[in-house]
Amino acid sequence: MSTKVLVTGGSGYIGSHTLVDLIENGYEVISVDNNSRSTIGMLEGVEKITGEKIKNYKVDLCNFEETRAIFEENPNIKGVIHFAAYKAVGESVENPLLYFHNNMQSLINVLQCIEEFEIENFVFSSSCTVYGNPDKIPVTEETPRKQAESPYGLTKQMGEQMIEAFAASNKKVNSILLRYFNPAGAHASALIGELPIDRPQNLTPVITQTAIGKIPQLTVFGNDYSTRDGSCIRDMIHVCDLAHAHTLALNYLFAQKNKTNCEVFNIGSGDGITVLESIQAFEETTGKKLNYVIGARRPGDVIAIYANNDKARAELGWIPKYNIKDIMKSAWNWELYIEKMPTHLQLPTKRLN
Ligand code: WQD
Repeated sequence: MSTKVLVTGGSGYIGSHTLVDLIENGYEVISVDNNSRSTIGMLEGVEKITGEKIKNYKVDLCNFEETRAIFEENPNIKGVIHFAAYKAVGESVENPLLYFHNNMQSLINVLQCIEEFEIENFVFSSSCTVYGNPDKIPVTEETPRKQAESPYGLTKQMGEQMIEAFAASNKKVNSILLRYFNPAGAHASALIGELPIDRPQNLTPVITQTAIGKIPQLTVFGNDYSTRDGSCIRDMIHVCDLAHAHTLALNYLFAQKNKTNCEVFNIGSGDGITVLESIQAFEETTGKKLNYVIGARRPGDVIAIYANNDKARAELGWIPKYNIKDIMKSAWNWELYIEKMPTHLQLPTKRLN
């Protein structure tokens, strides 16, 4: 009998890739996603890849009764992975209350259900953004959280603190906080990938949309930073490596290997790469010349951050398999697929809040 896991945000970018990895590793999954920021068509891609039908509850997790009904209907849920959240940094600056309500109320509702239905294993989607602009890199899990650079980042910090307090009050629930660095790339099948709503903000989809002509020109936000080539440094982590980290985190909890009931792991490649080097990797891997210019710095950008991932390697047995060229190649293949993908996979053209 497979272990049943509930994944919130299952039709999102990281959620869909994690569903694939969980199924391929023997888990039974159900998804909860109201598709306000994603397309149910992504689950069709998951079904094509895995050959499994995915049950998705189209529920707003901010609605406690509807959320609770899912747990009531599925009494054998043994673990929860919570992805569902808004994550557009710029939008969070324009509309912080939307982010505080959506990201925090949904987390509170999920935690209340976990407590009521005595579910013992919880994995939370956190982010390196909790480190702010770190004084020292690479960052370890002991690097202190600093002033969040955006309301989005603040919701991740508050989420972590809420879970820490919840764990202190309820020793029966074992939680893991996974701090993602910069997720990028797509599944090798090119049937699932990142689907930005409106104009993408993150570097990799901007690169691929520029290369395919959806965006006329990419602007590199500054090359006058104190880095080896003047552009910012990031830790690009392949979404499939990131997805697998969730499976290993659940395996770790189910095997009761955790030392405390709330543990943190950096999920990054451990390699710092500059923006210009990322662009170069794309050009070399795809043979496509990218039309870009150097522009002004983007407010709020962290100059340099990348992970020390020793803890995830040692404790979870997590070893990232993919490099920046794999990321750019897979992202490009996904962009080519989007070009011809059936309309049912098209995203809502505007944010549905
Ligand atoms: C990366 C670098 C930009 C676009 C954000 C969130 C973080 C996480 C990942 C969710 C920066 C530069 C980008 C462009 C550019 N999200 N860039 N031109 O800001 O590191 O992190 O996404 O967890 O929480 O904060 O990612 O991809 O936006 O930017 O020069 O058109 O690429 O300046 O240096 P970021 P990003």
